[in-house]
Formats: sequence, C-alpha cells, structure tokens
Amino acid sequence: MVKKNACVFISGAGTNLKALLKSSREYNFPININYIISNTKQAKGLKLAKLYKIPFRVLDLNKTANLEFFFKELQKKKISLICLAGYMRILNKNFINRFNKKIINIHPSLLPKYKGLDTFRKVLKNNEKLTGCTVHYVNNRLDSGKIILKKKIFIESSDNEKTLKTKVQAKEYRAYSESIISIFR
Ligand code: GAR
Repeated sequence: MVKKNACVFISGAGTNLKALLKSSREYNFPININYIISNTKQAKGLKLAKLYKIPFRVLDLNKTANLEFFFKELQKKKISLICLAGYMRILNKNFINRFNKKIINIHPSLLPKYKGLDTFRKVLKNNEKLTGCTVHYVNNRLDSGKIILKKKIFIESSDNEKTLKTKVQAKEYRAYSESIISIFR
C-alpha cells in the first residue's frame, strides 16, 4: 500500500498523536506521519515527535511569514492530510482555503452538540446521559464541518470532568484511526 503523508497539529499532551503514531506503524494504515506542528513549545506531545524521530516545528500560523514557510514545507513533504489532534487554535480562512486537501479534527463531544471549549463541564451541567467524540472535516466555521465518525459513551452519576475525559479520550484514539481508514478507503 502506498501511504499518504500526513501532518499532525497539537497543542497539549499529544495522546491522540500517540495513538495515530501507533496506527501509522501498521503496514495497512493509510497514512504516515511526516511532520508535527505545535503552536506552543510547552506541548508535551512534542516529546513524541522526538521519540519517533519525526520532524516538528513550533509555529504561530497566524503570522504570514510562518504561513509561507509552512506551505513550502507541506509541498516539499507532499502532505495530503492535516490532522488536528488537540490543536487549540482556530485555523483562519486563508489557511483553510489555501490548503486544498483534507483537514480533519477530533472534538470531545457528539457534534453538533457542545462546540468549542469546556465540553465536559457543559455536558455534566446539562445532565446529559450520553456524550462522546466526533471526527469531522474542518471548514470555516468552528467544529461545524462534515462529520466523519462519532463514538458514544454513557455517563454515570459518579462521573466528573476527569472521568469523562478519560472515557471520551479512550474512544477518541480508536475514532481517529478508524476515520482515517474510512476517508482513504
Ligand atoms: C482531545 O480530547 C481532543 O478531543 C480535544 O483536546 C484533547 C487533546 O488531547 N480537542 C479539542 O477540544 C478541540 N476543540 P491530547 O493532546 O492528549 O490528544
């Protein structure tokens, strides 16, 4: 199988990145991860880039000069998929329009419910019985692009933000890899 090249954007712990890196090591997974971008050098996930020896950059993509550099890199590396994995910046319109290939994101709620931040707190406050995660294409509106896949979890009365996060993220790791398989099928 000829794998496509992908770039993963992170801002934090990088546990989704880790799951994707593991999947990408399987011979029949459709992508290789060739490049990792973080908006902050504090992102713990950058350690994974070093561990797996994958080129990475800390870049503020709201700066035009960085954007020019980044798009050149994407061309050089023949990147055909961008995966947002806990990337906590909004990509601007120009960026999305300029990258004419796929950009996908994972979000910790059952979209279209609970777009934006603080999903676990909002879900608990509204006494939801179900929540989960969604993988979707990125468009110009926040957390609103076409949905690729959702996975659900049941909320128990003993759940709090921390336990919900753990349960939802366990689903995310499978959801993200399954989504990538499905979009290249
Ligand atoms: C993930 O749970 C992801 O769904 C969420 O950030 C977490 C990152 O964790 N993304 C968003 O909230 C995007 N709006 P990770 O760095 O351990 O993968």
